[in-house]
Amino acid sequence: MKFYGVSVEERKASGRYTVLRYRWPGLVEPGQFVMARAVGWPVTLDPFLARPFSFYDHDGEVASLLFEVRGRGTALLDRAHKIEVSAPLGCGFQLGSSSGKAALLGGGVGIAPLKILGRRLTELGVPHDVFLGFADAPTAGAARDFPGAGMATMDGSLGTPGTVLDAVPNLTEYGAVYACGPNPMLAAVKRTVGPDRLCQLSVEERMGCGNGSCNGCAVPVRSGGYVRSCVEGPVFRAEALAW
Ligand SMILES: Cc1cc2nc3c(=O)[nH]c(=O)nc-3n(C[C@H](O)[C@H](O)[C@H](O)COP(=O)(O)OP(=O)(O)OC[C@H]3O[C@@H](n4cnc5c(N)ncnc54)[C@H](O)[C@@H]3O)c2cc1C
Ligand code: FES
Repeated sequence: MKFYGVSVEERKASGRYTVLRYRWPGLVEPGQFVMARAVGWPVTLDPFLARPFSFYDHDGEVASLLFEVRGRGTALLDRAHKIEVSAPLGCGFQLGSSSGKAALLGGGVGIAPLKILGRRLTELGVPHDVFLGFADAPTAGAARDFPGAGMATMDGSLGTPGTVLDAVPNLTEYGAVYACGPNPMLAAVKRTVGPDRLCQLSVEERMGCGNGSCNGCAVPVRSGGYVRSCVEGPVFRAEALAW
């Protein structure tokens, strides 16, 4: 896997998350991801493995990532001036096959791919609504980047109390649903949408290599067995997943 060194051009807080921006010309599909790590010296061995992050936004020249500091890899990214990235990786959202209005649902850092997805749907002239779910008001500060989005918080401190699904008044009015977040959220979205409408889910399985060679990111599929979410995903049609 080839890594490119890029300079962090801007870093800002977004609620309890961080948004990093760096120059990245080229094509990026919504739902594709980046393996990223802070640049170390003389070589990057801390962390040994890069970490996966969805593209948060990309305007053709500048890319951004939105992330939560969880452990060593994200703590180093949070203060790095230079990072190494390998991208764009994986299969993103398949657009164009839906009809009518689309609903975009994100939970926690799963809101990340919705920004670039919303940008692309707007370019395609597809009407859409965005719904975001957070743990609490401090994390919900990230919703400021999504004007007009519906919102829920688990502790009820902002927006509708409950999960992101509680923030959607009527999911049946949408011809397509796109979602990203923790697996229990995605499973609930899949159950609620049902089998008759287009539903695509971006999974956040832990990853080792990000290029298909370690099998660390396997997800069970209905056709039997497992597939690697870093190459066959991370976005799947809901009915393909065995949960
Ligand atoms: C395709 C994909 C896209 C992702 N996009 C984003 C994104 O846009 N923004 C973002 O903040 N995060 C995203 N993640 C999750 C992100 O990769 C992890 O938070 C990150 O790897 C943690 O690295 P760390 O070294 O800081 O923490 P570690 O030290 O590796 O782990 C710290 C804690 O976080 C937990 N953790 C690590 N990875 C995950 C995971 N995938 N799911 C749930 N818990 C995890 C660990 O179990 C541990 O408790 C994405 C994951 C995938 C697979
Ligand atoms: S992360 Fe190694 S195969 Fe997917």
